[in-house]
Amino acid sequence: MRSTLLPLAAFCIAITQRAADAGCTLTASGGDDAPQFLNAAQTCDTVVIPAGETLDIQTRLNMTGLSNKNFNIQGTVRFNPDIDYWTGNAFFIPFQTQVTFWLLGGENIVMNGGGTLDGAGQAWYDAFASNSSLLRPIIMTVFQAENVLVENIRMINSPEWHNLVNEGQNIVYSNITIHAESTSDNFIANTDGWNVYRSDNVTIKDSNIVNGDDCVAFKPNATNVLVSNLDCSGSHGISVGSLGQFPGMFDIVRNVTAINVRMSNAQNGARIKAWAGPNVGSGIVQNITFENFIVDDVDNPVVIDQCYMTDADACAEFPSNTFIQDIFFKNISGTSSGATVASLACSPDGRCSDINVDGLEGLSAGSGKRAFKCQNVELQGESADLFPECTDTSND
Ligand SMILES: *[C@@H]1O[C@H](CO)[C@@H](O)[C@H](O)[C@H]1NC(C)=O
Ligand SMILES: *[C@@H]1O[C@H](CO)[C@@H](O)[C@H](O)[C@H]1NC(C)=O
Ligand SMILES: *[C@@H]1O[C@H](CO)[C@@H](O)[C@H](O)[C@H]1NC(C)=O
Ligand SMILES: *[C@@H]1O[C@H](CO)[C@@H](O)[C@H](O)[C@H]1NC(C)=O
Ligand SMILES: *[C@@H]1O[C@H](CO)[C@@H](O)[C@H](O)[C@H]1NC(C)=O
Ligand SMILES: *[C@@H]1O[C@H](CO)[C@@H](O)[C@H](O)[C@H]1NC(C)=O
Ligand SMILES: *[C@@H]1O[C@H](CO)[C@@H](O)[C@H](O)[C@H]1NC(C)=O
Ligand SMILES: *[C@@H]1O[C@H](CO)[C@@H](O)[C@H](O)[C@H]1NC(C)=O
Repeated sequence: MRSTLLPLAAFCIAITQRAADAGCTLTASGGDDAPQFLNAAQTCDTVVIPAGETLDIQTRLNMTGLSNKNFNIQGTVRFNPDIDYWTGNAFFIPFQTQVTFWLLGGENIVMNGGGTLDGAGQAWYDAFASNSSLLRPIIMTVFQAENVLVENIRMINSPEWHNLVNEGQNIVYSNITIHAESTSDNFIANTDGWNVYRSDNVTIKDSNIVNGDDCVAFKPNATNVLVSNLDCSGSHGISVGSLGQFPGMFDIVRNVTAINVRMSNAQNGARIKAWAGPNVGSGIVQNITFENFIVDDVDNPVVIDQCYMTDADACAEFPSNTFIQDIFFKNISGTSSGATVASLACSPDGRCSDINVDGLEGLSAGSGKRAFKCQNVELQGESADLFPECTDTSND
């Protein structure tokens, strides 16, 4: 493939100003490669970064409004960790006060090639350890995009989240390898694999993630999302939420399936979290299925926390206004790290309904006596009997 594209590349350099139908091959300039990458994204249908090349991105990448592009990344795109530059220059994303190196948007975009997006996170992990208000950029934000396929790509050491899908439709990630690792004592904090926000019809499949926070998180207004065949290690799990955090906002997460997931050395397996307490928002979580999970050394394999960040008294006084319904935990097996294997804690006053548990008998405790915990919820399904607190009608 390279050999046929190389002649095109030379041709492309001559015609980039007037034609948009040729492949363009980029090689490292020795300085900031952002300008040539941006220019190629505007003017070439196919942008090739050959194997062995590393583009050094020193300034932000606004690639919004593209159409019919193929990014064939065989080499590496590395984001220079000049913290002084990125502070104030990374694109700001109001939701949860995020920033990003790269906005990629438009329609009919394919990114593939087997190459690497390198967040060069170590400098960020170290800086964040002494400055917890440092805003650390997301590597790639798919923003206002439709029909995007990202496949066969490695992402390493993002300073913070690796991916955000923000206002996207028909977005697919396939065969993505994510690996965040610190070489110092400072943790790889908040290095989520994916966050899906205000987006519909998103698939994340056949991928391998080693990170330090959520493997995949479904944030407000994520609908029709499929997660399948993931291997997540070191993470905080596959999470819906946290939702209902911001007063005046209404958060919806509907029609999500997470199936065939291996979760190891993690805080959670399958999780739903929603805020309660005074001065929070509201919302609905509906029709969520977590199916065929195998856990290994996971603190809490099955979780609903509808009193997220709220103590029991405040949660009793101000139950969550984010309602949770039609939830299916199916065929989840393996070993937790401690005694708890499931914890389904809802706010009082019927804020959870139609919570189904099936095929949870294969969960075992890593230590102590295995505990299936729950509160303020009536469970349905074949495994409901495993939860003594919630099958006893005197609980009402
Ligand atoms: C990105 O570029 C588009 C098109 O040129 C522009 O409209 C938009 O304001 C830019 N976005 C940011 C955040 O700078
Ligand atoms: C910490 O990071 C914030 C946000 O980037 C910045 O404004 C502030 O100056 C930094 N503080 C120190 C002590 O470096
Ligand atoms: C997955 O992507 C990697 C590059 O990250 C590539 O080497 C591998 O061949 C891909 N696997 C499949 C099945 O395409
Ligand atoms: C969802 O996205 C996929 C992949 O882009 C596409 O094939 C499918 O038609 C979309 N479904 C709907 C209902 O739009
Ligand atoms: C989610 O969608 C609903 C219905 O369209 C809308 O009212 C709400 O503001 C959206 N919430 C967010 C956080 O975008
Ligand atoms: C959820 O899926 C059902 C069945 O496919 C569909 O009718 C409904 O519109 C979907 N809900 C949302 C919010 O997309
Ligand atoms: C629930 O969501 C799944 C996708 O995750 C969809 O296939 C199914 O039709 C939805 N069910 C209902 C009743 O909306
Ligand atoms: C349960 O999940 C495991 C692990 O994904 C899978 O191998 C097995 O076939 C599933 N069992 C059923 C009955 O679907």
